[in-house]
Amino acid sequence: MAGIPQHDGAPKTNGSSEPRSSPRTPTPRHRMKHDKSILALAVSARHIFAGTQGGEILVYSLDTYERKRTIEAHKGSVLGLSLSQDQALLFSSATDPIVNVWDTTSYVRRYTIWSTYDVGDIFCVAYSSYHKTVYLGAQNTSIQWYDLKEKDTRPRPALASHPSERKDKFFDSTGPGGVQTPRPHGESRLRDAVGGQSLEIAKQDIYQFAHFGYVYCMLLGRGILPESPEEEVLVSGGGDGRILAWRIDQSRGGAIAKLYELEDGREEGESIFSLIHDGSFLYSGRLEGEINVWDLETRQLVRSLKANTGDVLSLSIGGGLLFAGGISGYAQKFNQHYETVSTFKAHDGLMLASAFTMNDDKPLFVTGGNDNTIVLWNIEDCEEPAVVAKRSNNDLMVESLNQFVSFRTVSSLPKYRADCRRGASYLRSVFQNFGAVTEMINTSEPYNPIVFAKFRGNPATAASRKKILFYGHYDVIAAENEQGKWKHDPFTLTGEGGYLYGRGISDNKGPIMAAIYAAHELANEQALDADILFLIEGEEESGSRGFEQAIKAKKDLIGDIDWILLANSYWLDDHVPCLTYGLRGVIHATVQVESRHPDLHSGVDGSMLLDEPLKDLIMLLSQLTGSHGKVQIPGFYDPIIPLAEDEKQLYAHITETLLRSNPDLGDPEELAQSLMLRWREASLTIHRFHTSGPENSTIIPRLARASLSLRLVPNQESAEVARILTSFLNEQFAKLDSQNKLKVTIDHQAEPWLGDYNNEIFRTLESAIKSTWGPTFGRRRSSVHALKNIPDPLALSPISAPADSRPSPTTSNTLASGSVDADTGPDLDLDHNFMERKPLYIREGGSIPSIRFLEKEFGAPAAQLPVGQASDSAHLDNERLRLVNLYNAKCIFRKVFKELPTK
Ligand code: BES
Ligand code: MN
Repeated sequence: MAGIPQHDGAPKTNGSSEPRSSPRTPTPRHRMKHDKSILALAVSARHIFAGTQGGEILVYSLDTYERKRTIEAHKGSVLGLSLSQDQALLFSSATDPIVNVWDTTSYVRRYTIWSTYDVGDIFCVAYSSYHKTVYLGAQNTSIQWYDLKEKDTRPRPALASHPSERKDKFFDSTGPGGVQTPRPHGESRLRDAVGGQSLEIAKQDIYQFAHFGYVYCMLLGRGILPESPEEEVLVSGGGDGRILAWRIDQSRGGAIAKLYELEDGREEGESIFSLIHDGSFLYSGRLEGEINVWDLETRQLVRSLKANTGDVLSLSIGGGLLFAGGISGYAQKFNQHYETVSTFKAHDGLMLASAFTMNDDKPLFVTGGNDNTIVLWNIEDCEEPAVVAKRSNNDLMVESLNQFVSFRTVSSLPKYRADCRRGASYLRSVFQNFGAVTEMINTSEPYNPIVFAKFRGNPATAASRKKILFYGHYDVIAAENEQGKWKHDPFTLTGEGGYLYGRGISDNKGPIMAAIYAAHELANEQALDADILFLIEGEEESGSRGFEQAIKAKKDLIGDIDWILLANSYWLDDHVPCLTYGLRGVIHATVQVESRHPDLHSGVDGSMLLDEPLKDLIMLLSQLTGSHGKVQIPGFYDPIIPLAEDEKQLYAHITETLLRSNPDLGDPEELAQSLMLRWREASLTIHRFHTSGPENSTIIPRLARASLSLRLVPNQESAEVARILTSFLNEQFAKLDSQNKLKVTIDHQAEPWLGDYNNEIFRTLESAIKSTWGPTFGRRRSSVHALKNIPDPLALSPISAPADSRPSPTTSNTLASGSVDADTGPDLDLDHNFMERKPLYIREGGSIPSIRFLEKEFGAPAAQLPVGQASDSAHLDNERLRLVNLYNAKCIFRKVFKELPTK
């Protein structure tokens, strides 16, 4: 050992001194929260599997980061997870002490394996796909194995041999008076730890005292023996501080024989908590941040690194990077020269598990800890030249959104004017980078500009090319986080639990980006036959100030339009995709009563002699509505179309579908009534009062003002309603015979919109929704049929099959053009007959001032695809958008851009 310093890898760039913005410091891409510690991780091409302290295995989709399944797998903490090489089987080990083997498509248990003896906790499990043998490392210092090739010829174990049936010192001894402590009902409580073949490890398949301490970690790999690089070798690390290499003897049912020990020359061994193998090197993690680097050619310790992780509980390697994590909650990243690239806080608590994979050349680093969190990290700087991180379009789309959301494009507050401009020019640059023709259309000062862009369709079809106009808005509602109501900074896009959080992500930045990427992808594939035009304005949340004028002035630039598409509304619930065919109109008005006097003192001046402006205002406003908010302006309701019989049917269909996925919504009649009142009836709201003078209770304000709005429905003309509102207020004010002055201002108005849901654009949207969201959507009932008719994966692949046949990665293909799995809730199995496929045709109570204007101006019908769910919290704290909704929106836009016929 002479000449090899024990700790020469002291960090050159210490994590604490490194700026957080360094691209070499991994940034969290997505967080998944649970209610128990995450003790083990395994990653396949499609899923993350996480073992928890509660005995569950959580299954997350790598596409959408949604939890697809919670496997109730073990009675005790899941300590070890590993996958077969073809990723068809998942092996879990736990404190029960059982090893369970799961089918990774159906999540059905295939085998359950236990030992003849009490082994204590099973810390680790490894599987040789070549030998079809499972190895486990246990607390009782043994390594044990089961050769699955022999599963059908071995005698069936007696039920009494199951660990949960064995005598237990606590539960099975009789207490005072001969009473037995009732056993907690074990496996029967677990939904998934049922079925499959029970396999008991035979006495001869146990290597007792493999270590002189717990067997903490194991790995199986090739290239470990230089003289026999193809041979699969088992390596184990123990509480005795030893690392042992084992030969697998196929002729003896996978029995292990000790090959050698990696010697570090120390007398007293310190526990080996983690092991990882890469090429001709092996890495082991120990106490207090010690990481040993072993050369497998010479079996020598070549280096020891010192990490700031505390005891090194997990090691991962890939892309030329080594990651260590441990009890400090910090992770440390090393490059190929074993220099620290960065140290970063990964978990609040212990970091207990990690995994690194390279799916489709896409590096993925995942960590888990006792803060009940799983974190996926962005890794930007893989060192291997072949690994230029290839990112899918969906990843790039989220990255673009990351930047888009970071601009505080709040149109209602003058202090954000510059941010709005910057946001608009960022958006323009996205279009430009994708080869679209762009122009910034100015509105009258000081309003925000409109971003115009045009993706030109394939010239071959120039004559018949259809023209689709996508309308959206880049401005957002204000979001100050002073009271800390937002879980994260509203202008830093944050991924959590399958959702993206950030102001404007749902209203309307996410949907806009999905449409841009859809057009870009088609253009890129030379598959764009239509012209796709974009008008993305910056004043929608402030009533689309300046929009009409600016568009009228630029009609030549925009040209003819066949269809108008927008995506600025929400589903009715969180499960069923919808199409929106109607919106209410709105008038925003300010009513102001002003006196000729200054602000006065109520004690000095308050008397019947003085008409107080606030009192006048209140009397006046009280005339506007009667009980239950019924508007008392004469003629106000006259133009409204009464409910037709066939329209009634529409509501019946909606409530029926809604109640099926949300049974607690109550009475269908009441539900229909409440929808009708919000969608097809007008309403009036008084938003707030403003008074002049200091805010104390002795002041008679000189001026009082109220903001109010009226939501309008077809055929109420906003200009006409504005007129009758103003004259009604003037008449009523005259009756007060007041000395004060009344001023009514109409701040902005929007026409109601009612689309034709039978036209081509709605038909095309409907079929795109069906094919994207799949045959079923909505909450699915779990069913037991998943347990039937599943072939035995071992029976399918002959033992002689090449063990290194890699699974075909399906991830990128599915994402490039296909849709994302439409699983809408965890733990729900597919039931193909359960849900009708048709989206719900809905209206909305909200308003978008420009729709009706654009329809009239361009003589083109509009349709609206709601992208987000009802729980998106647009305009509220913690606004969010589900990733699967974002990805599927892109998919739907692609289809519509491709398939929509000319008018
Ligand atoms: N996306 C909304 C419109 C909307 C609201 C659709 C609710 C569906 C349900 C839009 O961004 C919005 O907030 N509109 C304002 C318009 C107003 C400022 C003129 C609204 O409805 O209040
Ligand atoms: Mn809005």
